[in-house]
Amino acid sequence: MPLSPVPPLDVTERANLRQHNSFGLPALAATLVRLASPADVRRVVDHPVYGIAPHFILGGGSNVVLTRDLEAVVLKVEIMGRRLLAETADAWIIEVGAGEPWADLVAWTLDQGWPGLENLALIPGSVGAAPVQNIGAYGLELKDRFESLDAVDLVTGRGVTLDAAACHFGYRDSVFKQHLAGKSVITRVRLRLPRPWRPVLGYLDLERRMADTGNSSPDAATIYDWVCAIRRAKLPDPALIGNAGSFFKNPVVTPEQCRDIIGRDPEIVHYPMPDGTVKLAAGWLIDACGWKGKSMGRAGVHDKQALVLVNRGGASGAEVVMLARAIQESVYGRFGIRLEPEPIIV
Ligand code: EPU
Repeated sequence: MPLSPVPPLDVTERANLRQHNSFGLPALAATLVRLASPADVRRVVDHPVYGIAPHFILGGGSNVVLTRDLEAVVLKVEIMGRRLLAETADAWIIEVGAGEPWADLVAWTLDQGWPGLENLALIPGSVGAAPVQNIGAYGLELKDRFESLDAVDLVTGRGVTLDAAACHFGYRDSVFKQHLAGKSVITRVRLRLPRPWRPVLGYLDLERRMADTGNSSPDAATIYDWVCAIRRAKLPDPALIGNAGSFFKNPVVTPEQCRDIIGRDPEIVHYPMPDGTVKLAAGWLIDACGWKGKSMGRAGVHDKQALVLVNRGGASGAEVVMLARAIQESVYGRFGIRLEPEPIIV
């Protein structure tokens, strides 16, 4: 019986990546390979040239700052598909292709009657990128809804399934930002949405909504609407203004460091963590240094949330990084705290 023909890999030479990163930064990829299936990943591994070249894995491009053209083979993950894998007494398990947009997934699960992701509404980027940085918002992190994922090793071509423990999730961190960085391509993600559904309402902005509306037991659709409204009020839409969400992680300090800073700045926004450390609001620190709404060249600081850097039109990655450095220096100068970028700077 004849074998069905294998379609060739989808390769573009000298591809412009401006459309493929949410900052809208200009950069050329010497080679861009679009991956439509896990089999495509294995075909890259087996390829005589692409298999041995350095690789750069690109998801939705919403957490990357491109400062230069890329010689590495850029792998754009476009594996699609989403389905209910299982429905048990205590959970809905959803399986999703890594190339699906995260925000569409959240809306779809709610439409299907499977709540649980509503706090993570409107987060830009792809489903495959979500575990890489353990996305989080409004009191919920990806790890709280994670079941497992499939990935393909870029050296051996072997497929692996990792559970939450193997992913080493931390605050905006996972094994894919550490020792597996650039080494394996996430192809599918499975999420566990617990039944019965329980709302996550501990975040201050949501508590305020409850107080303002007098609705203290919102359903999932209401929480979704609230989160969308809060995000739209504070965060720029990357379709309109290039950005990569929060540019810095919220720094974690010791209680002594925090007391010292509170002594000088009693207003500082801080959250005690379960392990005794204290998380500070980086947006507050940057705001306190007077950066909100400011620009350097064509890069700027968003006027409603100082933690978000924006492309005011035609900025280069170098301009964004210069602005980020200037912010780091002034926050260090005033508070003695080093801010760590959240996106990957290339
Ligand atoms: N604040 C200011 N000035 C600012 C910005 C913030 O004073 O310019 C204060 C706020 O008033 C608030 C505190 O800082 O008291 C925290 O601000 P916010 O609630 O907006 O959240 P965040 O800590 O700045 C984090 C995540 C966001 C996520 C929100 C909501 C990080 C690095 N960022 O921001 O995630 O949407 O909480 O949960 O953890 C992202 O990672 O890209 C992202 C947008």
